[in-house]
Amino acid sequence: MIVTLTPNPSVDRTIEVPQLVRGAVLRATSSRVDPGGKGVNVARALIAHGVTATAVLPAGGAEGAQLAALLAAEGIGIAPVPVAGAVRANVSVVEPDGTVTKLNEQGPDLSSDETTALVRATLEAARGAEWVVASGSLPRGVAAAFYAHLVDALRDEGVRVAVDTSGQALAVALDARPDLVKPNREELAEVTGLTVRTLGEAVDAAQALRSRGPVTVLASLGPDGAVLVDDTGVTHGEARVDTPRGAVGAGDALLAGFLAGGGKGPDALAEALAWGAAAASLPGSHMPTPHDLDREGVRIHDHVETDRVLQERS
Ligand SMILES: Nc1ncnc2c1ncn2[C@@H]1O[C@H](COP(=O)(O)OP(=O)(O)OP(=O)(O)O)[C@@H](O)[C@H]1O
Ligand SMILES: [Mg+2]
Repeated sequence: MIVTLTPNPSVDRTIEVPQLVRGAVLRATSSRVDPGGKGVNVARALIAHGVTATAVLPAGGAEGAQLAALLAAEGIGIAPVPVAGAVRANVSVVEPDGTVTKLNEQGPDLSSDETTALVRATLEAARGAEWVVASGSLPRGVAAAFYAHLVDALRDEGVRVAVDTSGQALAVALDARPDLVKPNREELAEVTGLTVRTLGEAVDAAQALRSRGPVTVLASLGPDGAVLVDDTGVTHGEARVDTPRGAVGAGDALLAGFLAGGGKGPDALAEALAWGAAAASLPGSHMPTPHDLDREGVRIHDHVETDRVLQERS
């Protein structure tokens, strides 16, 4: 069983219009509403593959109720924590040529009681769980050390913790020695201060990151796959994507696949890459289902091609 924590989830509305014109009244050609948030994505991907998962999230306002209803409709078990502020609503405006304009709300400001309730709910949900995945940005009002405290509390309970976040929240979380961190290329460069232009530089940065505390570093490199750095060494792998349609959420799918694949070693990396590639082949932040996976398309390399220049994201 895997528990995910999303401190700042969202309700995501995608509206298609013929053309975005400032100041005009535009008629939508279609619109849809999806549950949003990184831990929410991880839980959706796991459940789509028959892995039991519970999503812990603050749920306030009408948007909180809507998020809970959207997740219930997908069969996602949630542990909602009541908060005074409303869950944020994010709006994406999509034009026919694929241009996406995003309007993202900040989300609620959590009080210290609400923050404490979120940690309690996570500890409660994590009883008997194998992993807790703590993902995404922190809401306003929550200290940068939030994930670090959570890692400490969960370690006392014997639960392993994966952290996927950025900036200060990631930097501080490292000190608590989480079992796994999953930075992407930009996060890897930002948190280490190193240049990450080649595969060799990505490995150096992942090793530098690991030396600051985490047991395992799973660094995702978009079209160049991912690098796994643990106590046995470094492994690079990648998976073919014929038509990339949207890498948003691909990192969440990668992390879900890694945990579903056993949470360590090259076999888990291979499973992770299959899930990540499938997510990158699906539009928007759609999470892959078992029939979207192409495990034959995954390659785990015997050695790291250090001079390879990393591709820019399309
Ligand atoms: N164009 C692509 N071709 C092949 N695989 C891809 C591509 N884009 C993403 N992937 C797969 O998805 C994984 C995660 O992608 P990426 O490094 O972009 O994550 P991310 O930036 O954390 O994404 P997010 O935070 O939106 O979930 C990669 O490690 C890779 O396996
Ligand atoms: Mg990411």
